[in-house]
Amino acid sequence: MLVLANDHGGLILREPIIEILNELNVPYRDIGTGSPESTDYPLWGYRAAKLVADGECDRGIMMCGTGVGMSLSANKIKGIRCVVCSDCYSAKLSRAHNNVNMLALGGRVVGPGLAKMIVKVWLETPFDGGERHSRRVKMIGDIEQGIDLG
Ligand code: RB5
Repeated sequence: MLVLANDHGGLILREPIIEILNELNVPYRDIGTGSPESTDYPLWGYRAAKLVADGECDRGIMMCGTGVGMSLSANKIKGIRCVVCSDCYSAKLSRAHNNVNMLALGGRVVGPGLAKMIVKVWLETPFDGGERHSRRVKMIGDIEQGIDLG
């Protein structure tokens, strides 16, 4: 199950993203917002990230004006690795190398066509799983735990 969240700045991408999730038969839980009214992005980033961190959802896709605010908010939650993406290469490598569990997109940065391509490649790319990348992802968790990496 994937969680989907957006603020007013990301609203424009909501329908296109739902469209591609349906095309790919990916089940999702849309937590909103469906409203164009101005709202605070940390609220949505937090709610979506909590669902992933608590194991209620496996992954998440979030949209705001730039993707930055959602991503910053989500990355404050333990266990979350969120990438802001506006290209397919980073989307692919963020999965293969960094095993990110959340994706943030900017509704004022990418158009709906590119956003859908990014989502597709991000969803279809597995973590590489090799020793090198696993070690590095674990190190990110170590930082989160307050371990001094030196
Ligand atoms: C809202 O105007 C905008 O700041 C928000 O959607 C997002 O881009 C924040 O990073």
